[in-house]
Amino acid sequence: MTSRPRFLMCPPTYFEVAYVINPWMEHHVDNVQQARAQAQWDALHEALQARADVALVEPAPGLPDMPFTANAGVVLGDTFVPSRFRHAQRQGEEALFERWCAEHGFAIRALPEGLDFEGAGDALLDRGQPLLWMGHGHRSDAACAPALQALLDIEVEPLRLADARFYHLDTCFCPLQGGALLYNPRAFDDDSRARIEARVPAHRRLAVDADDAAAFACNAVDVLDAVMLNRASDALRAGLKRLDYDVIETPLDEFMKSGGSAKCLTLRLDEPR
Ligand code: ARG
Repeated sequence: MTSRPRFLMCPPTYFEVAYVINPWMEHHVDNVQQARAQAQWDALHEALQARADVALVEPAPGLPDMPFTANAGVVLGDTFVPSRFRHAQRQGEEALFERWCAEHGFAIRALPEGLDFEGAGDALLDRGQPLLWMGHGHRSDAACAPALQALLDIEVEPLRLADARFYHLDTCFCPLQGGALLYNPRAFDDDSRARIEARVPAHRRLAVDADDAAAFACNAVDVLDAVMLNRASDALRAGLKRLDYDVIETPLDEFMKSGGSAKCLTLRLDEPR
C-alpha cells in the first residue's frame, strides 16, 4: 500500500501585496481582493486534498507572504533545511516555519551563516533521478549549492536564473513524476539551459512558450499523475496529456499579483530519499 502524498499550506488570512520585492508586485500594492484570494486558495486546497493529505500552518498577521509555503525551506526524508529570506519583509516567517517542522518530526539542519536561501522556491528534487536542482541569482545564493549537497547528501545542480520575472526556480521549472520536466528555457542563462538539456532527454522536456510562462504554467504542483496549475494553453494541455498527466486548472490570479501561483502555495512534506 502506498501512502498519500503530504503537503503543507497556509491559509491566506493575512495575504496582501504590502511591499514590492519582485516585478509582479509592482503595480499591485493594496490591490488584492481578499475574498477572491481566499476562494482561489480554497479551490486549490480542495483539489489538492482530493489527492493528498494537506497540513496547515497557522498564518500570522504582518506576514502577508506566508501563504507561499514553498519558501519555508527544503525537505528531504526527515530533514528540513530552513530558509533564510533575502528580504527583511519575509524574515519573520523563518522561525514560524522552523517551529512547525520541528513540532512535526523533522530534524532541522541549518545552512552556514550568511547564506540567503528560499527553500523549495529555489530547490526542487528531480522526480526521475537522485538530484536536487537549485536556482540562484535572485533570492538564493549560488554558495547554497555545495552547502546543501553536504547537508542533504544529494547531488545539487545549480541553475542561474536570468530573468527578474522568474526570480524563483519554481516559477520557471517543474520536475514531474517519472522524470519529465516542464520549464521555461528563456528564464535561464545559456550555460544553465545547456546543463538542463544535457541531463533531461529531449522527449521528456516540455518547454512552455512565453504566454504560458507568464501565466505561471511552470509553477505547477505535481501530485501522483496530475499537474495543478493556474492556466495552460491548449498546446500545453495537449503536451502534458501526451506525457500522461491529468491537467487541473485552478485560477490563482490574485496570488500572481504577488508573484506566486499553485506550486508556491504548497510545500511537499514527503520527499523520500
Ligand atoms: N511575494 C512573494 C515573494 O516575492 C512570492 C513568493 C512566491 N513563491 C515562490 N515559491 N515562487 O517572495
